[in-house]
Amino acid sequence: MTIAPEAGTAEVSLPTQSTYQTRVADYWNAEENPVNLELGKLDDLYHHHYGIGAADRSVLDEPDAELRRERITTELHRLEHAQAEFLAERLGPLSPADRVFDAGCGRGGGSVVANLRYGCHADGVTISEKQAEFANAQARKRGIDDRVRYHHRNMLDTGLESGAYAASWNNESTMYVELDLLFAEHARLLRRGGRYVTITGCYNDTYGQASREVSLINAHYICDIHPRSEYFRAMARNRLVPVHVEDLTEATIPYWELRREADHLVTGIEDTFLNAYRNGSFQYLLIAADRV
Ligand SMILES: C[S@@+](CC[C@H](N)C(=O)[O-])C[C@H]1O[C@@H](n2cnc3c(N)ncnc32)[C@H](O)[C@@H]1O
Repeated sequence: MTIAPEAGTAEVSLPTQSTYQTRVADYWNAEENPVNLELGKLDDLYHHHYGIGAADRSVLDEPDAELRRERITTELHRLEHAQAEFLAERLGPLSPADRVFDAGCGRGGGSVVANLRYGCHADGVTISEKQAEFANAQARKRGIDDRVRYHHRNMLDTGLESGAYAASWNNESTMYVELDLLFAEHARLLRRGGRYVTITGCYNDTYGQASREVSLINAHYICDIHPRSEYFRAMARNRLVPVHVEDLTEATIPYWELRREADHLVTGIEDTFLNAYRNGSFQYLLIAADRV
């Protein structure tokens, strides 16, 4: 399917609906960061989000260089996995008959976590064809491909069945889209009483506008971090009523402090995140909402 071109502009195919979305898809199709792949290889749970909780910094004292790298990798993965479990816990209660929707699913770890926890069916959607293929191969390898499926689609326009989902989420993927369009799609997919959860970085309205650090993060990931206030406004406009809000900023700092010392995994954005959290311009937030 194609969208009719305006005079003088290029034709755009779905699932990307704009040049911007094509650039985001290009980024994730090409992405091979060790911090994503090396951690995932440990147990075939591929998370492309940050971690939470106290870090075991004794891994930095390991004298053997190779073992030190391995122990740091394992510890960062443990913290990222703890974040995924924290989100999954707030989707429930769910039964194996339920369906869940993972918006902006990356290489698929979040849907596997939900399936392992609840036995539920999951549909993950990513704008990256390569990620969808990778995640489906992982589901086949685990023997859960009859229940966990990944689609190369746009999360703003998924084509999935209306009202069929008991829960849905965005784990660090809301900053790539307009929130009104995103929440309208979640509201369409969720059944009445269904649960929506997001964990996201947002800029702090009390700081003022986006800080230098927030702008650097936007440039690094080609994204557009929203202010905290915009989440609540857009949810209210789209039949999503917040039931739980948790500021995870303090909880994510140990992850970043450890990651900045992981020479084999750093991407160069670590200090920017730490500065943004510490100067109060940026927050790591969980919002759970009910679809009414
Ligand atoms: C930081 S990653 C998070 C991945 C995953 N949620 C996780 O926690 O591991 C952001 C994801 O958002 C996806 N994404 C960005 N814009 C999208 C869109 N319009 N439709 C579907 N996926 C999108 C990217 O392809 C990527 O998989």
